[in-house]
Amino acid sequence: MEKLGRTNPEKVIDLLCERLAAERAAVKLYDAVLKKVKASRHTQLKKLVRELQEHRDQEEAHGDWCEEQIRALGGDPEEKTEKALLVETETQGLEQVIFSDAPLSQMFHALNTAELADNAGWAQLLGLAEQAGDEEAKAELEERLEHEEEHLRLTHRIVGMFLRAEVMEGESSA
Ligand SMILES: [Fe+2]
Ligand SMILES: [Fe+2]
Repeated sequence: MEKLGRTNPEKVIDLLCERLAAERAAVKLYDAVLKKVKASRHTQLKKLVRELQEHRDQEEAHGDWCEEQIRALGGDPEEKTEKALLVETETQGLEQVIFSDAPLSQMFHALNTAELADNAGWAQLLGLAEQAGDEEAKAELEERLEHEEEHLRLTHRIVGMFLRAEVMEGESSA
C-alpha cells in the first residue's frame, strides 16, 4: 500500500478507515445472523453455519489488515474519518434490521446489501492500486476481493432461496 499511499496519504487512509468501519460492522452483523441461524430450525441454513462463520472470520481478518495498513501509512485506525462516518451512517439501517426481531429472510436481505457494498469498496481500492501501479497492494487487495466475492455469492444464494419459497411456493417470510 506504500506506493498508493504516497499519492495522497490522507485520502488513502480515509478509504482504509472506510473499509475498516465496514469490516467491523460486518463482524457484528454476522455474529447476530449466526446466533439467529443456530437458534432456528432452518435445516438448510444450519448446514451453512460453518461457511458463514468462516466468512465472519474473514471480515475480522480484513479489518485487522486495514488497521495494519492505516498504521503503516501513519494514520490512526480509531479516527472517525469522513468516509468511516459515512459507512457508519449507511450501516445503521442494516443494523436496525439485523439487531431487531426480523425474520431470517430479512436478516439475510440486509446482510446481502452489506456484502454488495463491501465488494464495491474493495473493488474501488483495487482499482486505485492498479492505477497507482502498486503491485504489492494490488495482489493483497485481489486476495481480499476474492473472499468478498465468495461472501456475496453465498448471501445472494440464500436470499434467492427465500425468494423462491416466497414467490414460487407461497411461503410467508420466515
Ligand atoms: Fe468484508
Ligand atoms: Fe464480506
